[in-house]
Amino acid sequence: MSGIFGLGLRTAHYRDFLADEAPAVDWLEILSDNYLVPGGKPLVMLDNIRARYPMAMHGVAMSLGSVAGPDAQYLRDIAALARRVQPLWVSDHLCWTGVHGRQLHDLMPLPYTDEALAVVVQNVKRVQDALGQRILVENVSSYLEFSASTMSEAQFLHHLCEEADCELLLDLNNVHVSAVNHGFDAAEFLRGIPRGRVRQIHLAGHTDHGDHLIDTHDHPVADPVWALYRQALARFGPVHTMIERDDHIPPLPELLAELDIARRMVAA
Ligand SMILES: [Fe+2]
Repeated sequence: MSGIFGLGLRTAHYRDFLADEAPAVDWLEILSDNYLVPGGKPLVMLDNIRARYPMAMHGVAMSLGSVAGPDAQYLRDIAALARRVQPLWVSDHLCWTGVHGRQLHDLMPLPYTDEALAVVVQNVKRVQDALGQRILVENVSSYLEFSASTMSEAQFLHHLCEEADCELLLDLNNVHVSAVNHGFDAAEFLRGIPRGRVRQIHLAGHTDHGDHLIDTHDHPVADPVWALYRQALARFGPVHTMIERDDHIPPLPELLAELDIARRMVAA
């Protein structure tokens, strides 16, 4: 099956994607926040690579979980980038990233309550209105849970899809990390995610600290995450899939080899 296998575009690989022999990847995911600049080299590279590959836009600063909602200027910047890139889709995370104008530069988890759901639904609708398209919301990994939560993360995502009419970016490494850290069953989590809403899957690596996992994105995809991918394929079918590496970026052939594992699993 072709057409669904992608990689996160990282600066270390710009040259590979502009080489005469273009790497065999169906699409690339860009980190939107790196291209919210008025001009210069990043946008030149972006335009050149975009001429060769379809792209998805992935951001980290919408703060969909914050009561204040996404920053209006940030949304205008994302919308302008979307007009330039004409992305396959735009995604961000189920989290909050700051309060009272202060950026935490981290993806903070939410309590899974009706009150929080109403906030996220309103924010996602606002973003979708601003962009004129549905967005994908990604599950984050977490290291604590809120005693106030009245539903599971999967139930929260299910309600969010229904009420905001958005789609999901399922990060299977994040599911695994949170499942180990909080002691829930990752397979049961997948069964709680609605079919037909999962548009994209992230596969990534983590660091094992014995009694807890940290979502570092600096290792190859771990075996339990590949096992979860097999279960996800059985439930959701062949969904757009990519390897997401954010640190210790290896030479491109190593990531292409990891992507080939996903290809073989889909083919099987
Ligand atoms: Fe991810």
